[in-house]
Amino acid sequence: MEKFEINLAGIKLEHFIMNAAGTCKTLGGTEGVKRLVNSNTSVIMVGSFTLEKRVGNSGDVYDTQKGLFSLNSMGLPNPGADYYRKYLPEMVKTAHEKGKPLFVSVAGFTPDEYAELASLSLKSGANLIELNLGCPNIWEGRQQKHIACFYPLIVEEILRCVEERVGEKAKISVKLSPFSNPSNLKDVAQVIERSELVKAVVSMNTFPNAFAYDESGKPLITPGGGLSGLAGPAIKPIGLGQIKQLRAFLPDRIDLVGVGGIVTAEDILDYLRVGAKAVQVATIFLDRGVEIFNELLFELSDKDII
Ligand code: DHB
Repeated sequence: MEKFEINLAGIKLEHFIMNAAGTCKTLGGTEGVKRLVNSNTSVIMVGSFTLEKRVGNSGDVYDTQKGLFSLNSMGLPNPGADYYRKYLPEMVKTAHEKGKPLFVSVAGFTPDEYAELASLSLKSGANLIELNLGCPNIWEGRQQKHIACFYPLIVEEILRCVEERVGEKAKISVKLSPFSNPSNLKDVAQVIERSELVKAVVSMNTFPNAFAYDESGKPLITPGGGLSGLAGPAIKPIGLGQIKQLRAFLPDRIDLVGVGGIVTAEDILDYLRVGAKAVQVATIFLDRGVEIFNELLFELSDKDII
């Protein structure tokens, strides 16, 4: 439907709803590109992927308390750069044949790795690269890895390295975690604004290190002693507040993509009202499957789009 069309980071989209990273990582299989292209998502979002293959965390890594929240600690499971070097071109072709752009989310452990993964993905024909600066669930023994987006100097270095490799014209977005300190959010927004590289900001990742017990009194999630990323409806007010702040901090040339706790069409309209141009869904997509895009678009069909 024409009223849903948008231009995101210079890319024309049929509408503004797409899957969030973490929900599609392979060409085939139940969470693969070949399945997702037959849905009504506006973009195929693949990843996040890392340089080395990762099996991910073990034990109970995802739990959804329907209607309230979900917790996860996947640990970035993905088949690694060699797989994407081989299969990304076919993923891109599969998406483009259905008229859908393909975006790729990458997660480096060093600025150079981000540059390498972004470059590989662009060479394979991906339309936009999302730098995942906010994965909270990487544990080495009891030590949790730093979450890049909370360190403006690290973000600056990642952007510098990526720009050096792919050039400032490349279509790059960054994905941030939820911030509780507004000054820290402003600091990172200033770093993003100073770089000509970033065309969109995706907000937000899961809220780090949340915790819940199951009915039997054991932690709902196994890795990290149960500390895990919070998603779903519980984080929507944080998501809206962060988009509202980012819209005030960042220039108009940088588009915003809202993600966090979307269940209904009204949730989407709320994100658009506070300044998002598009939205991503993960929890409801994982809970309810590929039909969610049709359902949300149907719900939106008789509404005025902001
Ligand atoms: C994971 C990665 C993320 O970026 C996130 O927000 C939540 C979970 C993960 O793979 O564990």
